[in-house]
Amino acid sequence: MEIIIQPTPEAASRVAADLVAGVMREKPNAVLGLATGRTPLQLYQELIARKLDWRQVRTFNLDEYVGLPPEHPQSFHSVMWANLFQHVNIDRANVHLPDGQTRDVPAHCAAYEAAIRNAGGIDIQVLGIGTDGHIGFNEPMSSLASRTRIKTLTGQTRRDNAAAFGGEARVPRHVITMGIGTIMDARQVVLLAFGETKARAIAAAVEGPVAAITPASALQLHPVVKVCVDEPAARLLQRADYYRWVYDNKPS
Ligand code: PGA
Repeated sequence: MEIIIQPTPEAASRVAADLVAGVMREKPNAVLGLATGRTPLQLYQELIARKLDWRQVRTFNLDEYVGLPPEHPQSFHSVMWANLFQHVNIDRANVHLPDGQTRDVPAHCAAYEAAIRNAGGIDIQVLGIGTDGHIGFNEPMSSLASRTRIKTLTGQTRRDNAAAFGGEARVPRHVITMGIGTIMDARQVVLLAFGETKARAIAAAVEGPVAAITPASALQLHPVVKVCVDEPAARLLQRADYYRWVYDNKPS
């Protein structure tokens, strides 16, 4: 795990954009695993500004709310089109998100897993982290081997996301999310976290034990993970000075 501490969210997002853009340049038909939430928005702005070629790129999003139609403004379908897809030359047929309105959740989840496999697997997975340590919507105690399935959100996550819905009561209770096992299959992972509210989750994920109570801690077992954080999100890391030194003294 490489911990990259940057002064601002903008700077951390640029580091992440370099990684994603590097994969896209090397492999024009790269398979990107994408995330929603507030955190990756600057990364997407940065990718849009770089005018990359998305014609052959395939994308799979981590999750979607159960019950929301794609056109609902808070559905992750809408959020992704508004903040990334409509601004780049991606082929609509190459965009994949779980269907929150599926009638057969288990069959849909199995098909989503199969679609990722048939695309050749995810080359780089973008992640945020919940204040409770979730990745995707894998809440605490999610199996570290889990695959795409339906999950029930914690009260904390529903409160964290309440503003976008105009109140906690309007936040859906259930989601379809890639599992931790699905995320672990990605060839490379870049996790972004900004702000003081993420400091505890980042410290637990990076320096705590690998444990289902902190789903993001599973990433300690992944061979290629970069954690891009701003200073406030890094505040509780015990070895922050070492991580900075490593980043500044990389072998050529
Ligand atoms: P946020 O959500 O980016 O809106 O903080 C992150 C997450 O829940 O994974």
